[in-house]
Amino acid sequence: MSFVLVEKSGRTAWVTLNRPEKLNALNNDLLKELDLAFAGLEEDAEVGAVVVTGAGEKAFVAGADISELKDLDSATARAQALKGQEVFNRIERMPKPVIAAVNGFALGGGCELALSCHIRIASENARFGLPEVSLGIIPGYGGTQRLPRLVGKSAALDMILTGDMVGASDALRMGLVSRVVPQSDLKALAEKMATTILSRGPLALRSALTAVHEGIEMPLSKGLEFEASLFGLLANSADMKEGMGAFLEKRPAAFKGV
Ligand code: COA
Repeated sequence: MSFVLVEKSGRTAWVTLNRPEKLNALNNDLLKELDLAFAGLEEDAEVGAVVVTGAGEKAFVAGADISELKDLDSATARAQALKGQEVFNRIERMPKPVIAAVNGFALGGGCELALSCHIRIASENARFGLPEVSLGIIPGYGGTQRLPRLVGKSAALDMILTGDMVGASDALRMGLVSRVVPQSDLKALAEKMATTILSRGPLALRSALTAVHEGIEMPLSKGLEFEASLFGLLANSADMKEGMGAFLEKRPAAFKGV
């Protein structure tokens, strides 16, 4: 059985982590499949947005597979962390929007997977946590780096040092997720958000992702210059003419991504 299911619905690809009997824990085979799935989706011109979710109603992903971690030594543990980071870096750098639809536990590597996605939405039963210190390790797939960048050092260190879980409403308050709905509405919300995003200019979406991801690593003055350059490049696009023409003509825009 495949650990990662990819289904297309129009221009949205649904990536479902499918190991529900182990709460979708990330073993090496699953990580490999996830990497291949995203490599394929990046190249797939039919796909404009991706939703990532977990199979079942209990978990998004309950972390890296502890049974595979327990025998690592110093060198193999470092390599394992780098491998996980590489997969999540690919997700973060996807040129198309990636939405994490967090449908339950998002712990350890599951929380880190959600952090690498561009948007996080959650069901009311979702619980986020980085419990690694309770296992005698630290987060290794980006958690110590992405969480403080997203929610600030104070809230991130609270989660990382206590290992405590945070419920969906607290995650919303902290800015860890942007929307929370009952579990029965999560898929519909993800679909609606993907549809909205897909109606926008594809070049603009790609530039917005680049501006935010690269700009956040820069001092503000450089980030602003970078933003202005991307803004300038978009002014050459047919999409800009179409978007503004459609507004002025009071009709929906038909973007072509050029
Ligand atoms: N790695 C490997 N297996 C895991 C796992 C993980 N990270 N998380 C859950 N599982 C497995 C359990 O071992 C169990 O398998 P079994 O039925 O063969 O015994 C199955 O998934 C169901 O989990 P269970 O613990 O029975 O469910 P629960 O409802 O009692 O508890 C959690 C749910 C999420 C609180 C609990 O599974 C947990 O704490 N998981 C580990 C979280 C973690 O530390 N993640 C970071 C890893 S670095």
